[in-house]
Amino acid sequence: MGAMLKRNIERRWREVFIHRHHGLVYEIETPVIMPAKVFEASGHVENFTDVIVECMQCHKRFRADHLILEQVGEVKGIEGMTTEELDAIILEKRVRCSDCQGQLSKISRFNLLFRTNIGPYSENVAYLRPEAAQGMFVNFKSIFNSMRERLPMGLAQIGKVARNEISPRQGPIRLREFTIMEVEFFFDPRSPECTLIGDVEDVKLSLLTEEMVKSKASEPIRVSVSEALKEGYIKTEWLAYFMALSTKFISELGAPVDSQMFIGKPPEERAHYSAQTFDQLVKLERWGWVEVSGHAYRTDYDLSRHMQYSGQDMSVFRKFDAPRKVKVLAAKPRADAISADHGKNTGKVLSVIKGADASVLRSRLSSGPVEVDGVLIKPEYVEFYEKEESQTGERFIPHVAEPSFGADRLTYLALECAYSEREDRVVLRLPPSIAPVTVSVFPLVNRDGLREKAYGIYRDLKDAGIIVEFDDSGSIGRRYARADEIGCPFAVTVDYQSLQDDTVTIRLRDTWEQRRVPIGELKGFLQGFLPMR
Ligand code: GLY
Repeated sequence: MGAMLKRNIERRWREVFIHRHHGLVYEIETPVIMPAKVFEASGHVENFTDVIVECMQCHKRFRADHLILEQVGEVKGIEGMTTEELDAIILEKRVRCSDCQGQLSKISRFNLLFRTNIGPYSENVAYLRPEAAQGMFVNFKSIFNSMRERLPMGLAQIGKVARNEISPRQGPIRLREFTIMEVEFFFDPRSPECTLIGDVEDVKLSLLTEEMVKSKASEPIRVSVSEALKEGYIKTEWLAYFMALSTKFISELGAPVDSQMFIGKPPEERAHYSAQTFDQLVKLERWGWVEVSGHAYRTDYDLSRHMQYSGQDMSVFRKFDAPRKVKVLAAKPRADAISADHGKNTGKVLSVIKGADASVLRSRLSSGPVEVDGVLIKPEYVEFYEKEESQTGERFIPHVAEPSFGADRLTYLALECAYSEREDRVVLRLPPSIAPVTVSVFPLVNRDGLREKAYGIYRDLKDAGIIVEFDDSGSIGRRYARADEIGCPFAVTVDYQSLQDDTVTIRLRDTWEQRRVPIGELKGFLQGFLPMR
C-alpha cells in the first residue's frame, strides 16, 4: 500500500508538472551513476558538504549542526556558519556526544556524494547523482535541438538520488536514497515572462521573504503571486509560477494552506548554484516544519559550468527583431612575418589564424606565443582590428528555474494529514486521487447469487482501469473497517435489492454516508474522482 501511495503521488506530480505542460515540459530519464567530471562541473565535488564532528571517546560521528540543535536549541543562521563559528558554539555551550557524553573533536566538512568506479578501473571515478538535475543539464542541448530549438523549455525527471547523510534520522524525512521529482525550466533571461502566469496570479502564497528572515520575523505574509512579483519578493516569474503550482499540489495531498509556507534562504544558506531559493515547508504534527520542496533560481550557473568543463557549447541562438550592425574584433594574419618563420607551411598557419575566434586569440596572445591546432602562433603573426558586421542574432546561455520535491517526504505528509480515528479505529482520509485502492466491492452475503453479482461488478471496474478490491470475508462492518484503514474512499455493497433493480449502495469513507446508485453509473461516479492518468 505504501509503494502504491508513493507511485500515485509521483503520478499526480507528473500530471500537474509535466503532462499539463505538454509541449513545454518533457520528461526524461538519465543515469543514476555519472562520471566524476559531471559533478566537478556542477560544483558538488567541492561544495556538497555537511559539517561533521566526532566523539573523541566513543568515536561516533554526528552532523554538527544537528547535534547543536538538539542540545542548544535553534541557533539563527547556523546553516551558513563556518566550521570555526560552529566549533566556538560547541565549546561555549558545552555540547557533548549524545551517546557517551564524551568530548567532541574539531568540526570538519564531509562530502555527501556516494563515490564509485565505472567498470574495473579505479581511475574511472564516478558518483551516484545527489539530484536528478545534472542529467537534465548535460542533456539540455541535445533535447533542445530535437525539440525545435524553442525556449522556454522544461525538462523533468522523477528518479532515485543518493546522499551519504552523516546520521539520517526522522524515518522517511531524511534518507540516504530517496525519490526526487524535479523540473529544470530553461528560459531566455531577456524574455523572462511566464506565459502561464495568468493561470495563477491570484493564488495566495505564504511567504517569509529573505528580508523577513534577516530581520528575524517568523510569521509569514500572505500575498498573491502577482503581488509577490510586483514587490520583488520573487525574482523571476517562472519560479513564482511553480511555487503557485506547488501550493496547490501540496494542498491536494492534504496539507491545508495555513500549514504551508515558503521561506527565502539568505545567500549563506543557499546551495552554491542558486541566486534565490525558497524552501516550501509544511507543518507536520510529528516533525514540526519540514521542507517538502525547494524552488531555486539557478540562473546560467549549471549550463555555463558544464560548458566550461566539457568544452561543449551549451549556448543557444537569440534572433534579433531586425539585423543589427555591430562592431566585431577580427584577426588578420601577417603573411610576411609568418612566411619568414614557416616558409612553405605559411598556408597552414594562415588558415589556423583565420579559423580562430579573434577575441579568444587576442586574449591568449597577450601573454606570448600560443599553440593553436598544433601550430605555434606568435603575437607578431596577427594584426587585430575592428570591423562592422550585420548580425541576425546572438548566442546566450539560458537561465533556469527549478522546483524540486522529495517524493518520500510527501508520502509521509499524505499519511499524516490523512490519519484520523473514529470509534477507536483508523480512518485514513487519503484524497481519492492518490488513495492506493479506489473502491472495495463486497457481496452482503456469499449466497443466493450475490457473490457472483458482486464479482461481475469487481471485474468491470478492474477492466475500466480502476484499482478495486474484492472482499467477501468477515462481517460487512469488518470489511468497511479494513477499507477505511487503507484509505479506500468508496465501498460498494451488493445486496438482495441489487438482484432486483441493478442498484448497489456506495458508502463514503469520510462520512460513512450510504447512497443507492444504479450499477451502470458506478464507473462514471468513480472516474470523476480520479486523475486523468
Ligand atoms: N536539485 C535540488 C536539490 O538538490 O536540492
